Amino acid sequence: MGIESVALATPSRRAGAKLVVEGVSKRFGGGEDVVQALQPIDLAVGAGEFVTIVGPSGCGKSTLLNIVAGFETPTTGRAVLDGRLIGAPGPERGVVFQQGALFTWMSVMDNVAFGPRALGKSVTEAREIAGKYIELVGLTAFAKRYPYELSGGMQQRVGIARALANEPEVLLMDEPFAALDQQTRELLQEEIRAIWRRTAKTILWITHSIEEALFLATHVVVMTARPGRIKAAFACGFSREADPLVATTPAFAEAKRTIVALLRRESLEAQRQEAVN
Ligand SMILES: Nc1ncnc2c1ncn2[C@@H]1O[C@H](COP(=O)(O)OP(=O)(O)OP(=O)(O)O)[C@@H](O)[C@H]1O
Ligand SMILES: [Mg+2]
Repeated sequence: MGIESVALATPSRRAGAKLVVEGVSKRFGGGEDVVQALQPIDLAVGAGEFVTIVGPSGCGKSTLLNIVAGFETPTTGRAVLDGRLIGAPGPERGVVFQQGALFTWMSVMDNVAFGPRALGKSVTEAREIAGKYIELVGLTAFAKRYPYELSGGMQQRVGIARALANEPEVLLMDEPFAALDQQTRELLQEEIRAIWRRTAKTILWITHSIEEALFLATHVVVMTARPGRIKAAFACGFSREADPLVATTPAFAEAKRTIVALLRRESLEAQRQEAVN
């Protein structure tokens, strides 16, 4: 199977959706310094869907994710999770930021155990949960280290373990693998797919890697240059579990081509804007 164009905010998708983004736009600053980061965006994400978002740098991807996370408020529109308006962060939404947001004064173990502790688990239980996720991201040997003792990619893996340790229903991931080498990235992609299949989490995942977007997702969203809006969306069903060599298939190459072509125009536009600003 290849990719198939879909509308992601039809009334029927909205009706059953776990996460609904309705007319969400965002403007930063005012006067001469005003930046329109997002044009109104509509998106409905069903429970258990894995939605990846690609778009040129600066098009508002992180802004959109931060609105869903509850760290930013939209200028217009609203984001709704399970029928409740999102107004603040919550433990049912696990976030991994584009740049590490670890507690620098805590060890890897304490960083990852922090969420379970905050949710009322005992120290022993929290450490047990944390240990499981630290192992999953391959950092057991570094559990006692502090963030400054780790490489950027390792810090990012701690961030992933920390988000997973809360066992959130929804994972919001902002380019979590950007700093990783190709091998680690592929291994962790497979881990994430396995976790997703096992736990049926709902995932919103930003990436600059078109291959990653295609491998991971049930749906791929392509955004325009800033002010970002949704340019196209596709249902997609490539899986390395089923075929480790799926990236070599003509269907995959064709899907990649479609998305590269869409993004190329947008990236040129983004460059042009940056040259003007
Ligand atoms: N807190 C803020 N105050 C002012 N402007 C902001 C703020 N956050 C983001 N912006 C602006 O909003 C626009 C979108 O930023 P955003 O970080 O969402 O882009 P992005 O798509 O995540 O880019 P990248 O791919 O480079 O991470 C940019 O022009 C940025 O300068
Ligand atoms: Mg970003």
